[in-house]
Amino acid sequence: MNVVLIGFMGTGKSTIGRGLAKRLALTHVDLDELIVQQSGCSIPEIFARSGELGFRQRETACLKAAMARSGVLSTGGGTAVQAANRAVLMAAKTPVVWLTATPETVLKRIGDDPNRPLGRPDQLATLLAERTQAYQAVADLIIHTDDETPVTLIDQIAFWL
Ligand code: S3P
Repeated sequence: MNVVLIGFMGTGKSTIGRGLAKRLALTHVDLDELIVQQSGCSIPEIFARSGELGFRQRETACLKAAMARSGVLSTGGGTAVQAANRAVLMAAKTPVVWLTATPETVLKRIGDDPNRPLGRPDQLATLLAERTQAYQAVADLIIHTDDETPVTLIDQIAFWL
């Protein structure tokens, strides 16, 4: 991969990843989409059938496969939280961009989304606080997304790269 986007749910990883890939004339890979394609079922179905552990195993396998390709990778909100995945990211020496947002912004953006098994509105702030250190540990660039449009954020990342 040429650049990897990490961060919590609702920070714009997929939207910005798609736009950034277009800007840089690179392929965009969305890790959640890859997991769904490879599994042949939706994320809530994977959680229901195989639990979070089953999802995380698929996520690590897909991350390793994706990192061998070129392009812009949008990860899932929990990808960089797993130590094994952080090791994969660090070993690759690919620039990692951490997109941040406050819990209020996240809630506004994702609402109560049935496609996000870990996105319960009353748990978002706690989960975000628990995960912050893990994101920080692998981030090469931090981008605050609260008050910016996707185009401005894409400009910032493209300029930094
Ligand atoms: C998850 C975030 C989701 C998806 C899965 C688990 C998480 O991705 O990978 O539901 O643990 O935060 P998004 O960040 O794209 O919503």
